[in-house]
Parts: sequence; C-alpha cells; structure tokens
Amino acid sequence: MTGIEPPFLAACRRKPVPFTPIWIMRQAGRYLPEYRKVREKVDFLTLTKTPELAAEVTIQPIRRFGLDAAILFSDIMTPVEGMGVDLGFDPGPVIGNPIRTLEDVERLRVPDPRETVPFVFEAIGILREELPDSAPLIGFAGAPWTLFCYLVEGGASKTFIGAKSFLFAEPDAARILLNKLADLMSAYLRAQAEAGAQALMVFDSWAGLLSPYEFRSFALPAVRRTLAGLRGLELPLIYFPNQGSTLLEDATLASADVLGIDWRLPLSRARAVVGPEVAVQGNLDPAALFAPREALGTQIRSVLREAGPGPGHIFNLGHGIERATDPDAVAFLVDCVHEWTEGETGALDPEKP
Ligand code: CP3
Repeated sequence: MTGIEPPFLAACRRKPVPFTPIWIMRQAGRYLPEYRKVREKVDFLTLTKTPELAAEVTIQPIRRFGLDAAILFSDIMTPVEGMGVDLGFDPGPVIGNPIRTLEDVERLRVPDPRETVPFVFEAIGILREELPDSAPLIGFAGAPWTLFCYLVEGGASKTFIGAKSFLFAEPDAARILLNKLADLMSAYLRAQAEAGAQALMVFDSWAGLLSPYEFRSFALPAVRRTLAGLRGLELPLIYFPNQGSTLLEDATLASADVLGIDWRLPLSRARAVVGPEVAVQGNLDPAALFAPREALGTQIRSVLREAGPGPGHIFNLGHGIERATDPDAVAFLVDCVHEWTEGETGALDPEKP
C-alpha cells in the first residue's frame, strides 16, 4: 500500500497508530434515522440484495461519525440461502426447513458464492469506490458453529437447546454440517477479499453456549478450517467468540490476527490470556451508551486504561449496538476515543481528562 496505512489496519497488525481506531458492531442499523428511512421503502432481505442500497447504508455511519472502519451491510445468514435453506427474517433469522437429520445435512449444497450471492461482491466494489481511505472495508461471515445454531434451531433462542442437543446426539452429522459451513464460509470470505474487502471478521455470536471441551472438539476445528482456507491472503483476520471468556485460550488457536472481546472480560485480562502476538478489539458495554455523558466518559476511559499502552487495540463495543441508542452518544464516544488517545502509540494520554 502507498501512503500512510489507515489506523484500523495498522492496529490489527499491532503497529503504532496516531490514535486508537474505533468502529462499532452493527454500526449500520435501526438506531440511525437515515437507516430507518431506507428501510421504510424496502424489507431487510431486499436491502441486503440491492448493492447500491447496501453500499448506501454501509456508508451512513461513516459519514455521520467519522469511524475508522466500515463493515459491509449484509447478514451472517446471507450466504447460506444458496445451500438450499429457506431463509426469512423476523427480525432475526427464521429458517423454514431446519436441519434435523443426517439426510437433511447431506442434502445441503456447498455452492460457489460468486454465483449465489453476486450482489455482495458488487456492493464491495461500489464501496471501495465511495469509501474514504481512512475507513477500510471489513468483510465478514458467521462462524460455522453460530450458523449451525440458527440452521438446526430454526430461529433465535436463548439456549439453542435444539442445536446443542443435535451436537451431543448426532456428533458425526454435526461435524459434517460444520465442515460444509466452514468450506462455504472460507470460499465466501476469500471472494469478499478478492472483491476488495480489506479485513475479514468471523462472528461466533453463540460460542459462549459451549463448554471448553465442546468448543475445542466442534466449534474451534470449524473456525480453524474456515481460516486455513484463507492462507495467502495478505489481510487481517478477526475472530469474535462472543461470551468467550472461558474459551479465550482455545480461541487463540484459531490463529486470527485480532480477537474480539465481549464486555464481560476486562481487556487487561484478555491481553494476559491471548499474549502479545494478538491484537484485541472491544469492549465497551453497549448499555454504557445509555449513561449520562460524564458516566459514559468514565466507562470509555476505563476501556482505554484496561487496553493498556501497548499497540494492537481497536476500540469497539463488547457486542452489537442496541436499537434504542441515541446517535449523539455514539458521536460523543467516537470523539472521546480519538481525542483522548491522540499521540504516539494510540494509548490513553494521562494528561488529558
Ligand atoms: O453494521 C453492521 O454491523 C453490518 C451488518 C450486520 C447485520 N447483521 C445487519 C442486520 C452484521 C455484521 C450482522 C451479523 C449478524 N447477524 C450476527 C453476528 C453479530 C452479532 O450480533 O452477534 C448475527 C447473530 C446475526 C443474525 C441476525 N440478523 C439477528 C440476531 C438479527 C436481528 C437483530 C435485531 O436487531 O433484532 C438479524 C437481522 C439484522 N441484521 C438487522 C440488521 C441491521 C435488523 C434488520 C432490520 O430490521 O432492519
């Protein structure tokens, strides 16, 4: 790359940065009036399948807040429709034909994503033309275990007891399904990189439902298989094992450059577990954005202090932003992180309030 490396990409590589970069999980979405305006005219699936509209809502939070990375507007379930899955949203994913048997697993195709979801790669092309250089584009996919949860359960759940039962009752069929998902996600992420994505993130939203043993024997091998298929690509890989405090040591074996840390674990403790070779991303509690400004400032400072002075911290929330969040609180957050960390390394400046 010519010129100065954008701070987000430098931080992923644990290089010094002029300030701590920040972006926000689910930064495009219903808390933004400009997003709701687009959604008045089209349903969610149509929005994800129309490249010009998907690109527009991806850029909305960049324009409004000056964030340091953009994330493609799509959904983790988008590429599984082409496997033969009957997919809807209400508002979370709803599967018309959930997986219940080995035969169901065997019936699923592993298609070429360039044929089944060409609109994703078109949106990436538009975005690389329109985004400022300061906001690199993150492509993403669901981790095999998290996709497995929705495909087997059939929809949202607190416990995913249907999906977990299948894992224990039919471990061989479960592994076949996880491998199919890993192969498809690997091809999907590679195609996003080839279309212009500058970093790739794997969301394992339901990792925390597993004991370390089940994580190690089912979820982790599938993530490793997904990322192994991306070897040779010169771009940072981010893995987010949500609610993964008890799994973090194993999660480092995914060999990602960056680990996303949810809000339950202070970043200093996460750093002690993952070691100096891995960057961390996180982890302000999304609920902190509902606090008055002064208390919010204290929470932001606490995340920066916990991250410590070393390089390799990307500021984010500890999970997706809530729908009822005031966009002005987000603007305040972004300005605080930028102002308070301006300096040589991106660490918190003790001289500033
Ligand atoms: O801005 C961004 O972060 C990019 C877009 C994005 C969406 N979903 C858009 C979306 C991303 C990265 C996702 C990932 C995703 N989708 C995850 C992993 C991240 C996480 O939160 O753990 C998961 C588990 C899903 C599955 C999913 N899709 C759920 C649970 C929901 C309902 C969410 C809600 O707010 O009620 C969806 C639908 C969805 N995906 C919406 C958006 C903006 C809401 C759709 C709408 O009604 O406009």
